Amino acid sequence: MSKKIFIKTFGCQMNEYDTNRIFDSVREIGFVRTENLEETDIYLLNTCHIRDKAKEKVYHEIGRVKQNLSFRKKPLVIVAGCVAQAENEEMLKRESYIDIVLGPQAYHKINDKIEEYLNKQKKIDETEFDAISKFNYLDKLKNSSQKISSFLTIQEGCDKFCHFCVVPYTRGPEYSRSFSQIINEANILSENGVREITLLGQNVNAYNNENYKLSDLILEIEKIEKIKRIRYTTSHPRDMTHDLIEVYDVSKKLMPLVHLPVQSGSDRILKSMNRKHLICDYIKIYEKLKIINSRIEFSSDFIIAYPGESEDDFQATLDLVKNINFINSFSFIFSPRPGTMASNLKLVDKKISLKRLEKVQKQLFDNQIKMNKSIENSEIEVLVENKTNSGAKFFGRSEYMTSVIFDGNDDDVGNVVKVKINDSNQNTLFGKCINTSKQRVA
Ligand code: SAM
Ligand code: SF4
Ligand code: F3S
Repeated sequence: MSKKIFIKTFGCQMNEYDTNRIFDSVREIGFVRTENLEETDIYLLNTCHIRDKAKEKVYHEIGRVKQNLSFRKKPLVIVAGCVAQAENEEMLKRESYIDIVLGPQAYHKINDKIEEYLNKQKKIDETEFDAISKFNYLDKLKNSSQKISSFLTIQEGCDKFCHFCVVPYTRGPEYSRSFSQIINEANILSENGVREITLLGQNVNAYNNENYKLSDLILEIEKIEKIKRIRYTTSHPRDMTHDLIEVYDVSKKLMPLVHLPVQSGSDRILKSMNRKHLICDYIKIYEKLKIINSRIEFSSDFIIAYPGESEDDFQATLDLVKNINFINSFSFIFSPRPGTMASNLKLVDKKISLKRLEKVQKQLFDNQIKMNKSIENSEIEVLVENKTNSGAKFFGRSEYMTSVIFDGNDDDVGNVVKVKINDSNQNTLFGKCINTSKQRVA
């Protein structure tokens, strides 16, 4: 009988990618994925350290698992991801239920570490930054993702050191994977049935491998016939280079939603965050892209109530949200991260912070509702991903990543179809497919 592994994933898309690759790895030593915690031989928690009480959340989660499994022999417990990197030895000391901590640049060693632990029964801390070996290992391991829309990590780590952010400490220095490895993996994904690829990196548009840029990757992946849509995330305004902007003019598969985190609308706050760009730089990028293609829309990340944020600074953020008309965006109250430059700065009053978050989210939601309303009664292109849970409808996404639920046809899963939108709410568009694969003339 095969041994089982259960993985719970917190955090960003990169952690989702990593979780899938960990499954690909442990399959080689006979483990199969289970969704049933009670029967698992290995429990792995893939963690995120970006905000809030990340560390406490991990201990809480491990405590819950310990209690739920108190009736049986303990599974092998692995904590991977960004909290593992930040806390490493500390975790093994504080929670005896944890057997292995595994950093995000060391998970290619998981098979060896499992075997080592099973042989020696000795706790393991494996948190070396070893991105080159990791990606060389992953290159030899078939990516088994069969989801219509899948992630592909092309770049990791960060050298920018924004004063609020833990990523440079948890993911290590910036590293770009080899161009050929990425194209090879994109081809494998396409053969698996994947139709949309989202290229991932903490600074995805800083990708640079032997002078190949992100724009080169997009144009090369575009040549893979079965891949219908390409996206990338997360980019930094400083790396929105001319070639990347120009690619929007020539690419037929790059989606017209640009996710470009700005964090704040105030130059004063951007400076204190160490973002190294001004609002006028951001607006220039926006204007250039709009000239190339007026259908391009922007989404962003915002940090609200960063230390020192005045009412005027906050108003500048609100104005920017209105002016750029951001859709599909994320906003968070500043969360001090241990070890970062901003960790000891005086916090904005909690009530004021919450009020500001509510205000900015209301504006973002209004933008989204308006955008969705404007689409009603028109026909849009949707990449069909799957049936809904009830099985009665289909689920897909618009070019702008908005969820679409509609009446469709089984044959259309994996295809881009036209859907007539007849209703919408803040997060979802509803409609009916008007050119299913069956009706389409070849
Ligand atoms: N590299 C991207 C960039 O430069 O914009 C961001 C990557 S980070 C993983 C994702 C988002 O988390 C950030 O854009 C930021 O809005 C948010 N974030 C990071 N650190 C934070 C903190 N200390 N408090 C609140 N939000 C934070
Ligand atoms: Fe974090 Fe992004 Fe800044 Fe890097 S560029 S430190 S990942 S917010
Ligand atoms: Fe979280 Fe690490 Fe991603 S801190 S957001 S899992 S890079």
